[in-house]
Amino acid sequence: MSVSENFRGKRVLITGGLGFLGSNLARQLVEFGADVVLLDAMLPLYGGNEYNVADIRDKITVEIGDVCDKATVDRLVKGCHFIYHFAAQVSYIDSIADPWRDLELNCAGLLNVLEACREYAPEAKIVFSSSRMVLGKLEYNPVDTKHPTQPLSLYGTHKLTCEKYCAVYHRTYGLSTVVLRISNPYGPRQQMKHSKYCILGWFMRQAMEDKEITIFGDGNQIRDYVYVSDLVFQFLRAAVTDEAVGGVFNAGSGVGSRFVDAIEMVVDIVGKGKIKHLPWPKDYENIETGGFVADMTQEKKIFGWNQGVDLREGLKQMCEYYTAHSGHYW
Ligand SMILES: NC(=O)c1ccc[n+]([C@@H]2O[C@H](COP(=O)([O-])OP(=O)(O)OC[C@H]3O[C@@H](n4cnc5c(N)ncnc54)[C@H](O)[C@@H]3O)[C@@H](O)[C@H]2O)c1
Repeated sequence: MSVSENFRGKRVLITGGLGFLGSNLARQLVEFGADVVLLDAMLPLYGGNEYNVADIRDKITVEIGDVCDKATVDRLVKGCHFIYHFAAQVSYIDSIADPWRDLELNCAGLLNVLEACREYAPEAKIVFSSSRMVLGKLEYNPVDTKHPTQPLSLYGTHKLTCEKYCAVYHRTYGLSTVVLRISNPYGPRQQMKHSKYCILGWFMRQAMEDKEITIFGDGNQIRDYVYVSDLVFQFLRAAVTDEAVGGVFNAGSGVGSRFVDAIEMVVDIVGKGKIKHLPWPKDYENIETGGFVADMTQEKKIFGWNQGVDLREGLKQMCEYYTAHSGHYW
């Protein structure tokens, strides 16, 4: 059966669905003929944006509500075949400034979804969006999912707790959970309001506005930038691959790029902006993990995945999107 056939006519709930990753996934699912429901609280300064789905709005159901609200989640989960849980507090910087909010949005939100599934949709596949931030200081590269987990931020700690929730609900209640540790996604429909997450988007905006782009330190740190359509492929495969159930997987590109090279590419593609280096601020330096490249060996085997869009091509497509639609993103 092709991937698309697995989703045709199936009910799919995406929490945080008006945001960057959720809306890109929703668009693909609509093409596959799925019955797509988005739940989003539209929190200010997050990536929720009705424009992300404006052209498919008549083909989906959108509910503005909180994933921490039990009655809402219970109602929406009923009858679902697939659930993508993307709603979250997404900034590791903010998780330190407001730990309780991070705990509530990340941990309580997922528990609500898992409890609702246990009661109303025990057969549903549940894909949870974790983060490479669960790892902490890196001991080796490329990084597989056996790497020790010693998170440096509360965001990473709570994401790791969420991974454990998924494991417990899988083992204890037989729920079909799949955990994806997302690396550094970029592409159309990501928020460009600030630099707390989705940093490439922020830098692209600064370049488009011909501003100075600040890089902390020498910018030599390696990152695994994954274009959003590649990530959507992995989201889809994760939900329909029986072998993946109960597992933890990387969701990245498997290609390491120097941070400074990515920013130079942004400036080159946009044709504006200039780069300035500054020393690391202490609060950023303390939570810097060191270079990261995802080891995608397991994912290539299980999901049949291969990088589709390389960094230069992805940044070009992203630049084209924001040139045409910037008014909706800042
Ligand atoms: N973008 C990244 O760099 C990155 C990297 C690793 C992991 N992730 C994870 O992927 C997921 C999606 O991230 P994104 O980049 O699409 O972020 P985003 O900010 O674009 O989307 C998140 C959406 O969740 C919504 N939301 C937050 N709390 C909510 C709540 N309590 N109830 C309902 N909706 C709520 C927000 O309004 C927003 O629309 C998150 O779980 C994030 O932690 C993202």
